[in-house]
Amino acid sequence: MSERDTRTLPKAELHLHVEGTLEPEMVYALAEKNGITLPFDDIDDLRSRYSFESLQPFLDLYYACTDVLVTRDDFRVLAGAYLEKAHADGVRHVEMFFDPQAHTARDVAIDDVLDGLLDAFAEAKATHGTTGGLILCFLRHLPAAEAAATLESVAHRASDLLAVGMDSSEVGFPAAPFAPVYARARELGLHCVGHAGEEGDPSYVWAALDELKVERVDHGVRSLEDDALVARLVEQRIPLTVCPLSNLRLQVVDDLREHPLRRMLDLGLVATVNSDDPAYFGGYVDANFDAVRTALDLDDDALRTLARNSITGSFADDDRKAELL
Ligand code: ADE
Ligand code: ZN
Repeated sequence: MSERDTRTLPKAELHLHVEGTLEPEMVYALAEKNGITLPFDDIDDLRSRYSFESLQPFLDLYYACTDVLVTRDDFRVLAGAYLEKAHADGVRHVEMFFDPQAHTARDVAIDDVLDGLLDAFAEAKATHGTTGGLILCFLRHLPAAEAAATLESVAHRASDLLAVGMDSSEVGFPAAPFAPVYARARELGLHCVGHAGEEGDPSYVWAALDELKVERVDHGVRSLEDDALVARLVEQRIPLTVCPLSNLRLQVVDDLREHPLRRMLDLGLVATVNSDDPAYFGGYVDANFDAVRTALDLDDDALRTLARNSITGSFADDDRKAELL
């Protein structure tokens, strides 16, 4: 299958942080519009910092750039630009992460964040028929009480959300304190997902499953270090939202040729391919497909399986899934 064909393969993107689609040009345009002084000399200085030894240095830059997002329209423009790029990559359904605490901490109203993102989804639906929704992520380096307060602040708008998730620094930040927040999200009718097994060992994935009762594991690449965990993920058909270029750029793997994606498919795991933070990691979803196709020599069947997994692993309703499969 050529790059052209992987692009036209209908697919869903299930692991995409909207704040991670902030391209340097947009960072600078929004900073100027909103009168924000950035901690970089200029756009080239910002670009020169896109090389990361691990997750934390990336997150530090990601949060610094996030500060330029202020108004409802900023969120609409950001998400709209991503949804256009995704459409060109054959993405027909998007389940988009956002980090409300990164915005409310700067006194941005959570309603403006939600409304701006929903405006972009409405436009993409009208223009391209794109479906999907929003996944509100809790920052796991902050106290669970803050996550609970964030969830309660939008409880009356639960129908505007698809799911809750958890992201940010992983190692050293246990999932268990967030169990009551996840239980409350389920009470509100929300699906539950969470980052686990990106840098954290398999115990982090077990905790996401057992404490948070996640329906999908975001990343999960380190699950392969534990056979019993793999057996559970296969048996329960828990999708893993894998992000190959992210794993490379954050040095989770040293070389894409060593990426576990092929082994995941061989083991019968429901693996999907996603872009995570495409503005930072060198490409959107098709760039990720293309990178693993080349590095792992994936054949057409494997590429089709990955695209199908993204649709079956999504929270789209059965009619929409049938349309896309
Ligand atoms: N927030 C944005 N990207 C992330 C990632 N790859 N892991 C954890 N938190 C994130
Ligand atoms: Zn992520």
